[in-house]
Amino acid sequence: MQSALTIDRERIATAAIDPTAIREQFPILSEIVYGKNLVYLDNAASSQKPLAVTQALDKYYASQHANVHRGVHALSDRATEAYENARKLACQFVNAEHVREIIFVRGTTEGLNLVASSYGRHRLKPGDEILVSEMEHHSNIVPWQIIAEQTGSRVRMIPMDDSGQIIQEEYLELLHEKTAIVAITYVANSLGTVNPIKQMTQRAHDVGAVVVVDAAQAAPHLEIDVRELECDFLTLSGHKMYGPTGIGILYGREELLDAMPPYQGGGEMIKRVTFSGSEYAEIPHKFEAGTPNIADSVGFGEAAKFMWNIGFDAIASHEHQLLEYCHERAEEFSDIRIFGMAPQKSGVFAFEIDGIHAHDIGTIVDREGVAIRVGHHCAMPVMRHFNVAATARASFAVYNSIEDIDRLFDALDNARELFNG
Ligand code: ALA
Repeated sequence: MQSALTIDRERIATAAIDPTAIREQFPILSEIVYGKNLVYLDNAASSQKPLAVTQALDKYYASQHANVHRGVHALSDRATEAYENARKLACQFVNAEHVREIIFVRGTTEGLNLVASSYGRHRLKPGDEILVSEMEHHSNIVPWQIIAEQTGSRVRMIPMDDSGQIIQEEYLELLHEKTAIVAITYVANSLGTVNPIKQMTQRAHDVGAVVVVDAAQAAPHLEIDVRELECDFLTLSGHKMYGPTGIGILYGREELLDAMPPYQGGGEMIKRVTFSGSEYAEIPHKFEAGTPNIADSVGFGEAAKFMWNIGFDAIASHEHQLLEYCHERAEEFSDIRIFGMAPQKSGVFAFEIDGIHAHDIGTIVDREGVAIRVGHHCAMPVMRHFNVAATARASFAVYNSIEDIDRLFDALDNARELFNG
């Protein structure tokens, strides 16, 4: 049985990180690729999983699994307890006030689609406006375009500057009584920019808009506190924060969730069904139609504990050091262009090298055992802003080390030699 962990948010450890000790908890990091020790720098796409998470999944399937909320038997009780305990951990992870404000979803994409589809359809009128920033991932643009088309509302873009920061004056200009929703990323996946969510939320609330936060790239790096941020919705994915794939959470303020229509219909989300109509379950179950992803919710809870055990301050300061080191190393070279120079930045080093296509960089460093991501990073408007088709991106996790970055830069030297002589 998973035990609930009570978090003293005042006393989060600040101890320095020893990546070697942490790496021992990630067997996959000992893999050899192309005869070289793996250096995994594609964490913004998906992080690796510690033993605590994979063992919790094994244990769940070996001794706890049945369907939840339905059975009268012991295993069903165990599974229900494990699932609802995971919800409590998720609630603590984002510091929500009520456990019922936490909905399990497949990931951030589903969380955003749920809000767009349910809240959006219920709330938006012709002429209303939805503001999204220029640095959003496609999953925080396209669901709003779909719902705007269906409701006669419109999506407007909040521009960013060349350092990769939202232009706050332009944001204030765009806000007015027609603004119904502001949807912004906490940390931009293609640039690493950390946005001033609290300040932007307060301004949105001044005009009566609700704020939806995409925290997919923030959850692995920053302590998330929805009450401090004052946001209305926030969603994140387990697989980017050391948890399993296929599980994430959506936080929504209780009164908003209560007023929203269901997102999907089916079992679990009803109180009563007749052919003259159905009565829906209370939140959060109203939004969890069908058998949920029980096992991975348990893994999600373990991932949250993994991060608590290290400490958010320790994680943030370790990753900040990695990022600073990366920037320092990049200064040695006049042919590197860095994308994303915001003073508040987390987890991402995006770049290009003169004369070498990003995809070639990706392939060459891969042969040196270094995994990075190249492409448009599901952020085509960002690429358009910088007038590039693609960038190369190294992204960090708590198990990365200074040596990993040196390996990246050694591999980049090989790419230079091959392409630029
Ligand atoms: N959104 C993920 C990324 O940034 C997949 O790589």
